[in-house]
Amino acid sequence: MKRNILITGGAGFIGSHVVRLFVNKYPDYHIVNLDKLTYAGNLANLKDVEQKPNYTFVRADIADLDEMRRIISTHHIDGIIHLAAESHVDRSIKDPFTFARTNVMGTLALLQAAKEYWESLPEKYDGKLFYHISTDEVYGALELTHPEGVAAPFTTKASSAGDMAYGTEFFVETTKYNPHSPYSASKASSDHFVRAYHDTYGMPTLVTNCSNNYGPYQFPEKLIPLFINNIRHNKPLPVYGKGENVRDWLYVEDHARAIDLIFHKGKVAETYNIGGFNEWKNIDLIRVIISTVDRLLGNPEGYSEKLITYVTDRPGHDMRYAIDSRKLQSELGWEPSLQFEEGIEKTVRWYLDNQAWMDNVTSGDYQRYYDDMYTAR
Ligand code: NAD
Ligand code: DAU
Repeated sequence: MKRNILITGGAGFIGSHVVRLFVNKYPDYHIVNLDKLTYAGNLANLKDVEQKPNYTFVRADIADLDEMRRIISTHHIDGIIHLAAESHVDRSIKDPFTFARTNVMGTLALLQAAKEYWESLPEKYDGKLFYHISTDEVYGALELTHPEGVAAPFTTKASSAGDMAYGTEFFVETTKYNPHSPYSASKASSDHFVRAYHDTYGMPTLVTNCSNNYGPYQFPEKLIPLFINNIRHNKPLPVYGKGENVRDWLYVEDHARAIDLIFHKGKVAETYNIGGFNEWKNIDLIRVIISTVDRLLGNPEGYSEKLITYVTDRPGHDMRYAIDSRKLQSELGWEPSLQFEEGIEKTVRWYLDNQAWMDNVTSGDYQRYYDDMYTAR
């Protein structure tokens, strides 16, 4: 079937993997990648698909309602996968207004433009979908009831041998929203607007909430690419607080595959949680990164451990995220394809082999911002 799909934020980390998957897998779909190209958006992430006949890039700001109206009607968009956002918690602490503008007002403008266009068509909402990509951070933080870890009650291919859980609770689709950072507050607000457009106007919408992603093309302000790059350059590794916070890590291509499945088979108005049951304490994850980078660079075992530098904690730092993704697994048959150790090895290799990509995104204006962020600590 021919379809015209708008993917927002397609030049960013996760968006570029989703665009690549859709452009290659669905030659009959026209994929329109809409991105403002902020510091986090990089068209070099999509070099391999930019010449494909079913791909179009449009530079635009999702908060510009008239532009959203024009783009959605010009391209006869019938499906939207909305990833564009300001995504970094530390930046949201310094500049919450930008997060409210893009994540809240931008999502609202996109919803409104889609509503107006779809309601103007004879078939109205038939065959349409507004799919909003959200985060587990909207649920708040779980407690670290087992700081040393207990045997995990659930495992998937993404989990490692000797899987651990650091608490007894998990985020499920009905967990009450309780965001703590300006970033998660803005994402929670956008999720509410998406559901409100379904409940009020009957727009076919769907929301998914995913845990921490890792893999190629992630901007090196986020833990994993930042630390890989710092180890390579023999720079300090700033561990927030005691390094005991826990995150649930999923390889980015497994998230992209889940998005594809849910876009095509998910039930309208539903929420699906996406995660790998793959919990890691930051300090343990950092040690895995250090040993992988050292091994691949030919350094002696433990060589870069000296770079670990404990710094002031992130204000309001959420202690533990852990997603229960059994609904997605049982209803739609999704499961992660990569085991964590395999995924980390692939990721470290990618960053080491793509130094030119890293040098490009860590130069110029970004470099100044980045220096300010970390010298202030
Ligand atoms: P990212 O920061 O790497 O990319 C965001 C993209 O959005 C960039 O290309 C940027 O240019 C674009 N953008 C920002 N403001 C825009 C605007 N006003 N108009 C148009 N484009 C704009 O983010 P990411 O990590 O790829 O996350 C993508 C989405 O997935 C976000 O909505 C995020 O909340 C969500 N998410 C991320 C993770 C994660 O671990 N990274 C996990 C769960 C959910
Ligand atoms: O859970 C999903 C979320 O994961 C997404 O919604 C966000 O967009 C994404 O940025 C990510 O948020 P986190 O805050 O968990 O990711 P980050 O990589 O910034 O940090 C991961 C953990 O590592 C967190 O506990 C903070 C810690 N950290 C991070 C950095 C950048 C450090 O200790 N030192 C650092 O320098």
